Order: sequence, then structure tokens, then C-alpha cells
Amino acid sequence: MTESSQPRPSTVADEAVPEQGLSRRGLLALGGGAGLAAGALAGGFATAAFTSKTTALSDTLEYPFHGEHQGGIVTPAQDRMHFAAFDLRADVTRDDLIELLQDWTYAASRLVMGLDVSAKGAFGGGPYLPPDDTGEAAGLGPSGLTITFGFGRTLFRAEDGADRFGLAAQLPAEFGPLPKMVNDFMDPARSGGDLCIQACANDPQVAVHAIRNLTRIGFGRSRLRWSQLGFGRTSSTSTAQVTPRNLFGQKDGTNNLKAEEPERLTEHVWISDGPVWSRGGSYLVARRISMTIEVWDGLQLQEQNRLLGRDKASGAPLSGGEEFTAPDFAATDAGGQLAIDQRSHVFRTHPDNNEGIAMLRRGYNFVDGNDDIGRLDAGLFFVAFVKSPERFAKVHQNMARDDMFVEYLKTTSSSVFLIPAGIAEGEYVGQALFG
Ligand code: HEM
Repeated sequence: MTESSQPRPSTVADEAVPEQGLSRRGLLALGGGAGLAAGALAGGFATAAFTSKTTALSDTLEYPFHGEHQGGIVTPAQDRMHFAAFDLRADVTRDDLIELLQDWTYAASRLVMGLDVSAKGAFGGGPYLPPDDTGEAAGLGPSGLTITFGFGRTLFRAEDGADRFGLAAQLPAEFGPLPKMVNDFMDPARSGGDLCIQACANDPQVAVHAIRNLTRIGFGRSRLRWSQLGFGRTSSTSTAQVTPRNLFGQKDGTNNLKAEEPERLTEHVWISDGPVWSRGGSYLVARRISMTIEVWDGLQLQEQNRLLGRDKASGAPLSGGEEFTAPDFAATDAGGQLAIDQRSHVFRTHPDNNEGIAMLRRGYNFVDGNDDIGRLDAGLFFVAFVKSPERFAKVHQNMARDDMFVEYLKTTSSSVFLIPAGIAEGEYVGQALFG
């Protein structure tokens, strides 16, 4: 199991934090270029693993930043998410990209500890400069924040085929685009991106603060392409968690891969083939799926159960038992019909009906206002971690083709990012790619 899945108590000692992590360009992006007079950058790249915090913290749950795998995958799913995808500016060089990843790593290693993005932070830069940190998370504590970085396909080869950063030879062969599916209504402006950052926390303001400040550090190098807020986790990623409910009111995450199953994670989640730099990482598939909840709400309860293949109240499979009983796809009901309909969501997506393929789902509910006839713009920001995009596509194709659920869904955004392996102390995210 990854070290990053283990919580540890926060430290609250009061000590000075050396300002040696952000590059000159990163500090300029924050508007604090004059602060460079301190000359503290000479020490080179370093993360903030050795630093501590001075504030009284309201939520001290803290996950380690360094480890075999990045946090935010098997970490017990937090309650909130802010997900962001970025494009790199046309004039960014390979060295600029490396520097950006170093800056983000440094800032992220501080943020997960409940610290500001730099030692001067929100209030310590003096009255004549814009503060390095925007300040809205001061005093909120780490709140279980994890920050997960990912690389889009276009980082390796742009849409026009250009090898902008000399990375094309490092593109894993399996990192292709997902095939188009039934009920895909893609908005390209809300899909893809050169880089992504997933910030999950138990306090929404902590997650938003992380994305906002990392976006700010990237100014002049990266541009926010699209972003999504999520609330109410729709999965469990640890057996210690209670199964939550999605906006259809169903228990969601019952038969998910869990942190306590290291062998299954090795089999289904962690990349083991392809370029050496990518191994130990994972592929993140993100799909913004709108749910026609007003239509769904008008369905009889028994029909809602049939479409899923599970009992809405208990989460038990319709073949019987309790929530965690394995579904029996051959079981029949009193009328001799299959208890779990072959077009139900559980039937279509279960490993038994998909060459044994499983995935680690880690999505969130969203409500982004409403349309002009009063229907909520609501749904599931579906996130899954898989060993290869092709494995996801196989299950998804099986679902999209025949799943009765699909009638109530409309997917408006789809992206795949390669999540590099975990970050060691003193390294930056994805360092092995540039070796
Ligand atoms: C808005 C869209 C979706 C909703 C509301 C939804 C809801 C659910 C629910 C309630 C379950 C049963 C409980 C559980 O085992 O977690 C489930 C299972 C599952 N879903 Fe979805 N899901 C959605 C989209 C997807 C998509 C796009 C995929 C990707 C192929 C997917 C893959 C799975 C898998 C693999 C399972 C576990 C099946 C099993 O092993 O029994 N779901 N989903």
C-alpha cells in the first residue's frame, strides 16, 4: 500500500521556513519578484517536507506528500474536490516546464501541511508587495488535502503533432484517446489539457485555495483550461469508509477497489508496462456526466433498482444478501427472470462481465446552477484510476452500448491524464520523465 494513504498527525512547532523552493519565475508570477533580493534561491530546488506551521489549525488531518504513489488515489476519498486542467503557453520551453513542475511540487508539499505556498505566504511579504499566498485558507489546517498532478497526451505531442518539449519518444503507446461513446456530447474546451491538478480535501476552501494558488504560480507559463468543483464523494477508497450516495440517491462505491487490496491495485491501477518513467503511476480518466435527475426522480423505486441492479436503500445486489454480498448474475426471481437485469449498470460494469477488469473510482457530485427551464445542471464528475486507458474503454464500451442507465446521462467532458508515480523527498513530480 502507498505511504500516501496513511494519515499522520500535524506538527505545530514554530520554526522558520527557508524560502528556497519557488523559482524566480514562480515568484514573479505571484507578483513578489522584488522579494528575490533575499537571494535565497541559491540553494536550488527543495520541497517543504521539513517545514512546519505556526497557526492554530481547525482540521489537522494531514496526508504525507512524499511516497511510492501520489496522494489522492488510494487516500480515503475526501469530501470535496477541485479539479483543474492547464495548457502550457506556446513560448514555454522544456526548461520552463521543469521549473513549473518544481514550483508546483514545492508549493504543493507546503499546502498539504496546511502551510502557505511560500515562507512569506499571505501576510509576511511586507506591505508593498502583493502577498505570495492569497490567504483564504489561513487557519483552516491541512483538512486532509491531497494534490495529484497529471500529464495530458498533448504534453508529449501537441494536437498538430509538434514535439514541443522533446518528450514524444516517452509517450506510452497505450496512452491514446478514448473512443467516442453513446451519449457523448463533448465540449472540447472542457476536455483535455497539457497538465492536470486534482485537489481533494475535507474543506472546500482548502481545495479551492490549492488550485487557485497553483494556478497563480503558473501565470506566464500555464493557463487554466477548464476546472470542476465537486462535493460529496461518490466512492469509498478504503474499507474504513461508509459508502456514500450519489445524486440518484444510490449507494456508490460499494464494489470499488480499496486501499486495503494492494494486490488488486497492482493488477488494476498501477502502471507496470511501457516507458520506465511511467511505472508506478496510473491513468486518471475524468468524465463530467450530467444526470437528468428530474426525469430519474419520476421513476418508480423498483425501476430505479432494476436499472442499477442493486437495492437503493441497502445497496445489496438484487440477487440477494447485504450490501457487500457478491452479485449472482445467474440468480432468478420468483417469476423466473434474472434477478439482476443484463442491461443494469452493475451487470454491464462488473469485472465478471468485463474480462476481470476493475477500476478505482473516485468521483464527486456536482451542481453547477440550473438551466433556463429550472432543471439543475447536476451530475457526477466521474474519476477513475486504471492501469491503462484501454482497460477503461473496454468496460465503458460495455456500459455505453447496453446500460439502461445511459438514458439518464449525458457526458460533456472527457479527459485522460497520466499520473506519474509518487514523489521522493527532494524530487519534483514526474522527474523521471526528464532524466
Ligand atoms: C453518472 C454516472 C454514474 C453513476 C450514477 C454510477 C453509479 C454507480 C453505482 C450506484 C454503482 C453501484 C455501487 C458500487 O459498486 O459502487 C456503480 C458501480 C460501478 N460503476 Fe458506475 N456510475 C456511473 C458511471 C459510471 C461510469 C462512466 C463507469 C465507467 C465504466 C462506471 C463504472 C462502474 C463500475 C466498474 C462499478 C462497479 C461494478 C461492480 O463491480 O459491481 N460507472 N456505479
